Amino acid sequence: MLDICSPKCSDWQVIEMIASDIFENYGYEEIRTPIVEHAELFHRSVGEKSSVVQKEMYSFTDQGNDHLCLRPEGTAPVVRAYIESGACNTQSQSKYFYMGPMFRRERPQKGRQRQFHQIGCELFDAKTPQADAEVIEMANYFLNELGIFDVSLEINSIGCAACRPGYYDELIAFFKDKANDLCDNCKRRLADNPLRILDCKNSTCQAMIIDAPLFSKSWCDECTDHFQTVRDELDQLNIAYTVNERIVRGLDYYVRTAFEFLTNKLGAQNAVLAGGRYDGLVAELGGPDISGIGFAMGVERLLLLLGDKEPVDNGVIYVACLGELATKQALPIISGLRHEGLHVQWSYGQGSMKSQMRRANRLNAMAVIILGEDELKNDNVIIKWMDSSEQEICCIRDLNDIFLGYFFDGDMDVISEDILNQLVVDDKEIQ
Ligand code: HAM
Repeated sequence: MLDICSPKCSDWQVIEMIASDIFENYGYEEIRTPIVEHAELFHRSVGEKSSVVQKEMYSFTDQGNDHLCLRPEGTAPVVRAYIESGACNTQSQSKYFYMGPMFRRERPQKGRQRQFHQIGCELFDAKTPQADAEVIEMANYFLNELGIFDVSLEINSIGCAACRPGYYDELIAFFKDKANDLCDNCKRRLADNPLRILDCKNSTCQAMIIDAPLFSKSWCDECTDHFQTVRDELDQLNIAYTVNERIVRGLDYYVRTAFEFLTNKLGAQNAVLAGGRYDGLVAELGGPDISGIGFAMGVERLLLLLGDKEPVDNGVIYVACLGELATKQALPIISGLRHEGLHVQWSYGQGSMKSQMRRANRLNAMAVIILGEDELKNDNVIIKWMDSSEQEICCIRDLNDIFLGYFFDGDMDVISEDILNQLVVDDKEIQ
């Protein structure tokens, strides 16, 4: 479980901001559910026999004898909230997005923590394959907007209640005489959920899996048609994908479409974003028979993909004070600029002019406003533009206009992407 410090926090904020902007454009609204849930919720949804429930949940019994846990994922809580709020009875096509910490007691490694953060989306009551394609398209668009292009999309259909039992029988028949060679986990899976054998990372199991029967040969007509239309829609949207019949997902609620956006940059933890359809889940958790589909992505994995580039804020204005009198006059000037949405730093009048300028350099300030006692007597300050080292004297009441003009009047080529992104927020504030 990691602390998240600067500068990662600002990357984090940018990711969350882009996510909410995009998801809202697609009609999703934010939902925040509690971190603590009844453990039973995940037993019934993620699955009693899944690794998440069997081995990874942080669960405990509280003083009131309630069996609780830290949520290991976001879908089941959103479904619970969708049912409890009554939205499942009154609204059609509800769409929610969420962001927050999830907890799984897995073996930590690069890209895998025990507390990690997901951003996810859930769409209810949209059964047609067009919904699957739209959800995948939205995920793809989000990753591209973040600047993440080197991921590959893999999709599969893992059938439905009608065709899955037949496929299970085929898998059981295939693995039965090889059972002794399966790893211990897969021996158990053969009885509990043979589909999960296909997901095993053990090399001996993997060698056997190559020849295992394909689900596509057992799909019912509805699953075949549904998957074909999802593919046609993705083709129409020019979204590249490969069909990987070995994607089965580790959570039991999925039916039909399952998908993963994968990277080869994070070692074993190669899934950046994953999701699928879960049509029976709302009914399973006590609601009406309403379909669901969604995805979630790991924020830490996105951050690893974005790399360690320190976001350089080219828009910092630094205020240096020469003397006690100047320090006393600084705050109204500084807050005036900040209230215009500008990023202003100062050292509270501490340190020599030299040390204040050193700090301005470290902050990569685009300008330093020097408050000198002589200039202040005439309501003036000095602006030093750090790029050119040019200085100018200006009147305090013109300061806000000078800097706002700098950012908004066509001088945009000197402004970095980071600042532009920031200004989108500030712009809203100004309006
Ligand atoms: P999941 O595949 O378990 O699906 O997790 C989704 C994403 O969360 C993964 O692709 C990965 O990026 C991230 N993730 C999972 N575990 C960890 C971890 N221990 N450390 C860091 N990142 C992790 C779900 O959770 C489903 N609820 C997704 C979904 C939403 N399906 C439909 N709607």
